[in-house]
This record gives sequence, C-alpha cells and structure tokens, in this order.
Amino acid sequence: MKRKLAVIKGDGIGPEVMGEAIRVLNAVSEKYSHVFEYEEVLAGGISIDTFGVPLTEEAVKACKASDAVLLGAVGGPKWETLPGDLRPERALLGLRKELGCFANIRPAVLYDELSEACPLKDGISGKGIDLVVMRELTGGIYFGKRGRIQGVDEQAYDTEIYSRSEVERIAVKAFEIAGLRRKKVTSIDKANVLESSRLWRETVHEIAKRYPDIICEDLLVDNAAMQLVKNPAQFDVMLASNMFGDILSDEAAMITGSIGMLASASVGGTHPYLYEPAHGSAPDIAGMDKANPLATILCAAMMLRLSFGLEKEAASMENAVKAVLQKGFATADIAFAGSTVIGTRAMGQKVIENL
Ligand code: IPM
Ligand code: MN
Repeated sequence: MKRKLAVIKGDGIGPEVMGEAIRVLNAVSEKYSHVFEYEEVLAGGISIDTFGVPLTEEAVKACKASDAVLLGAVGGPKWETLPGDLRPERALLGLRKELGCFANIRPAVLYDELSEACPLKDGISGKGIDLVVMRELTGGIYFGKRGRIQGVDEQAYDTEIYSRSEVERIAVKAFEIAGLRRKKVTSIDKANVLESSRLWRETVHEIAKRYPDIICEDLLVDNAAMQLVKNPAQFDVMLASNMFGDILSDEAAMITGSIGMLASASVGGTHPYLYEPAHGSAPDIAGMDKANPLATILCAAMMLRLSFGLEKEAASMENAVKAVLQKGFATADIAFAGSTVIGTRAMGQKVIENL
C-alpha cells in the first residue's frame, strides 16, 4: 500500500534530523516492501521567509491530505522579534489545532545503554524510567485569550482555560494507554491554586470511575517536578495540561539522557496524526552535523505503529536504535566517557546498518 507523508523539515536542525529519519524510513520501506511518498511542506521560519506567514492554508491542506505528518523543528533567533502571531512556533500550534491533535504522547524511557548519560544517581535511575507524558495539546494557556493592556505600567496576560469536554477526552486517552501499560495514571495539576486545575481534577476523577482496574493519583505540578528527579520509577502515565506537560516532558527527557531522544505522537482527531520530536530547532548547532536524529527517527517508528499499524517495522527501527547505542555510538548530547561520538549523518547510517 502506498502511503503519503507530509514532511515538514522546518528550521535549525530540523532539515538535518528529518533527512536521517527519511533515509531510515526508505531503508525500512525497501526491506519490507512498502511505498512511502513524501510531500515537502513549508512551515515555521522558512515559511515566514518564503510566504510571509508561519503557516499557509496550502500547507494545512497538504497536511490534511496526507496519511501522516512528520515534523522536524521550527523556530530560531532570526524570527524572535516578530509579533507573537507571526512567529514560527505559531505554525506548530496552528497545525496541531487544525489537525485536531489534542493528545500528545511523549514516552520517556531510560535505555540500559544510556544509563551513563542519565544525570541522576545510580540508586535512583537503577530502578528504571519508563513513563509516558500524556500532554493536552490544543487547549489551555497556549490557546487562551492573551493580550497587552497599555498604561503607565503596561500589563500582559495569558489565559489558562479548559472545558470539561477537553479534559475528558485527554483523560480517556491517558487511561486507555495506561491500560496497555502498568495501569497507573498520575494526573498533574495545581488544584491548590488554580480554578482550571480544580475542574481538571474533578473531571479526571469522573473519567477514572470508568477504569476501575487503573490506579489514578493526583499530584501537584511542583511536587511532580520534584518527584521526577527523586523517584521517576513511580510514574507510568503522567497526564498533564498543555503547559505542565510541555515543561515536565523536557524534564522527563533529560533524566533519560537527552531531549534529543524524546519522540512524540500528536493524535486524537480524525485528521492525520502529527509526529514531532520534543526538542527544538537548536540553532546553535544547526548545519554542523551535530544534532541527534534519534528522536525524529523514533517519531517515524511511532508513525509506522500508530498511523499504519506496522508493528514489526516500527520495532525493527526501535531495535536498530538500541543496537547502535549498545555498540557505544552516540551524538554529543548523549555521549559519556567511552562513547564513540558521531555526527547526525553517521548516526542515521548506523541505524540503517542495524535494521
Ligand atoms: C514542544 C515545543 C513547542 C511547544 C514550542 C516550540 C511551541 O516546546 O513541542 O514541546 O511548546 O509545544
Ligand atoms: Mn517543549
């Protein structure tokens, strides 16, 4: 079966990491006789430079007409002074919204091979880290009303707003995924202060009643940040709002070695799913063959599994990544004493050799 992929390379290291993901996908498609057709779509800073806006209607159309969307990274210092609505990041937020991808699945796993790259003490990391951050992706403060109020002392505001139905649908996703894992959902909020969090908590408790075999716990976000470094083994599925999930998933990625390893799938709607590494465009190392392409490669594996049901192919990619790490190859971000440090392209090549 032929599958059409919309590919957004984006900015900074985006084109480099995406280049390797596509090379690996091509190797997989050859090995297992699949046909992937790629359509390059411009979004983010490059779209601003080309069309004057971060996300065009045509780009959205092309993504909607595909079977899955793969995205590298957007943003960079060049566009930082633009007004909020015209920044590259808007492309990402807009695309998530347009595609109805309200649930962002971010699995953080500490591979044995990377235990040395984990910044936590052995006594803590030794108990293992295998968790999923289920981040709400199309609501909350990233989409709420914002603005400036002029005056002697200028003010600015952003609004954290959630409806019951928005919380319900993301909670259902969290419980579903927990049911396939270690059957525990930790719902993150700030219910001791925020009204939106109190609605979040109430709603999660309602949904939890439908899943009697799954443990449901609440954890205040500040405590969650602490628990992640104190005892990450306690977590299975961490259910969080858009902003809390954004923040905690970076922390979760770092304790598993590097944000360069964190893949994510944005799912939920009836449109194609969006696969995006959680790292940014890392302009400081762009074009230097230094970026870690593994998060994007692992995104492609998630795509094969979740969008196309190609379990064997997805597993072969994931196992190839593990094999490369086991052999001691590492990009600079995940290197430790004894690693053989290689660049972006060489890392892609190693994964292909280990398929
Ligand atoms: C992420 C990123 C994005 C987000 C930015 C680039 C808009 O940090 O995917 O985590 O905040 O969602
Ligand atoms: Mn982030």
